[in-house]
Amino acid sequence: MCSVRSFAAMPGPQPLPLVGNSWRFALGRRPWRTTALDGALWALRALAGTDGAAKVSKLFGHPDLVFPFSAEEVERIYRREDVLPHRAVAPCLKHYKEELRKNFFGDEPGLIGIHGEAWARFRSRVSRPLAAPEAARASVPVLHHVATDFLDRMEDLIDERRELPEYFITELYKWALESVGAWALGTRLNCLSADDASARSIIACIHGFFYSVPKLELSAPLWRLYSTSTYRTYIKALDDFWTLCLERLTDKGVCGQIAKTYGEKVATILAFDLLLVGVDTTAAAAASTMYMLAKNERAQRRLQTELDQNLPTDGTMNSKVLDKIPYLKACIKESLRMKPVILGNGRCIQSEAVISGYRVPKGSHVVFPHYILSNEERYFPSPDEFVPERWLRDGDVSGRGDHNADAGARCERARAQYVASKQKEMGIHPFASLPFGFGRRMCIGKRFAEVELQLLLALIFQRYDVSWRHGELSYSVTPTYLPNEPLRFTLHQRTRSA
Ligand code: HEM
Repeated sequence: MCSVRSFAAMPGPQPLPLVGNSWRFALGRRPWRTTALDGALWALRALAGTDGAAKVSKLFGHPDLVFPFSAEEVERIYRREDVLPHRAVAPCLKHYKEELRKNFFGDEPGLIGIHGEAWARFRSRVSRPLAAPEAARASVPVLHHVATDFLDRMEDLIDERRELPEYFITELYKWALESVGAWALGTRLNCLSADDASARSIIACIHGFFYSVPKLELSAPLWRLYSTSTYRTYIKALDDFWTLCLERLTDKGVCGQIAKTYGEKVATILAFDLLLVGVDTTAAAAASTMYMLAKNERAQRRLQTELDQNLPTDGTMNSKVLDKIPYLKACIKESLRMKPVILGNGRCIQSEAVISGYRVPKGSHVVFPHYILSNEERYFPSPDEFVPERWLRDGDVSGRGDHNADAGARCERARAQYVASKQKEMGIHPFASLPFGFGRRMCIGKRFAEVELQLLLALIFQRYDVSWRHGELSYSVTPTYLPNEPLRFTLHQRTRSA
């Protein structure tokens, strides 16, 4: 008979009297570092064991965090989620929108950090214009324009060794901001021009916000007692960001469309949310996919063959072309599997529940550790190997145009074929890699982000051979999962194969 264990029996780091577990993050000793949450997740996974769960309890001012380490359990929880799913978010954001700046946000506070009826009302208003497939398709011309401009800028950035500069990630932020601005605000923000001061201010606000949140929430949430310097940085970043969004709102783009139906206030709040979370995320995904492909010549060649065969020669691009590049889509999925931009997504449970055999109290935050699950052998054989073919229906690694391959290349191909065949045999658990979340609250920008990434990466790999001449990149949580070292890719112009 299977008995339900008490919450107290769930493994996890032992809290100390008074300071609970917050002291671990405040001291920042491994593995409890806010920037190294990947390490913290692996440590919890070791405590939980296969299919088990672990908890981090008694974080100051925070509900207990529960981590179920099984895709089956994640599926079970997601599938029975409430009509009004409550995503565990930083209380400091709730504080900003619902208390401190209640006058701005009022009863239309947006999507990020908001729950219940107010969230459901807002989401139902903006869902169609943002997330419908036709909305993403309609964004192709404008995003293609931005991607083309970015490629011109990249060419100017390459040094005499054909390397991109140390600050290339900042350039990717500007591309992402320019893209989301063109789509959501219906205006070009000129982030890709020489005079990019305004782009830099917006990005500084976004980072002021993102870097402050883990400090405010995990290590020392003293902001609840008095106005700490991190708290002041955080509030200033959001206030400035609000002003910058307001100044740039036009009657065009997705937000302009929303303004016509629901008024300018709803449109401004939407712009605030979209720009806040729609820049670092896609920039991180673009960086990781470029890195994975730069290190994997076999996959890069196969991608280039696909691009040469399907991208128009005259430089135009339409949404139909995106239906013909399954290998690029598989490359993006595979990168997000290995290096998900967001390591774990969560839900606050609204009633007591049994999770992985433990009775978990109402109000606990369940964190789905996607990063761990999508890097586990039991769901993805040889998880450290970049094999986009895992995601293709036929799982065929041969590809066209590589019959002249040398012995090394043939060996790599055989290895990839082995991994892809093993994956095909076991199938892919639909809840083992969920980089955009799931259900009613899943990423509303998913389709837009996918189109944005596909267009940029298609143009880059069509124009260049991209290689990596440096050591392995290490990653940290900022809170997007991003390489620590500079992205010094080497780019060589290529000629399209016939
Ligand atoms: C590769 C890029 C991206 C990734 C990996 C990503 C990932 C996520 C994840 C994991 C969530 C939480 C989903 C859940 O709770 O089930 C989320 C929510 C959200 N994302 Fe994204 N995102 C990306 C790009 C974008 C972009 C470009 C935008 C906007 C332009 C955007 C806007 C949002 C918004 C507004 C929410 C909150 C939705 C709600 O609570 O109703 N995201 N995203």
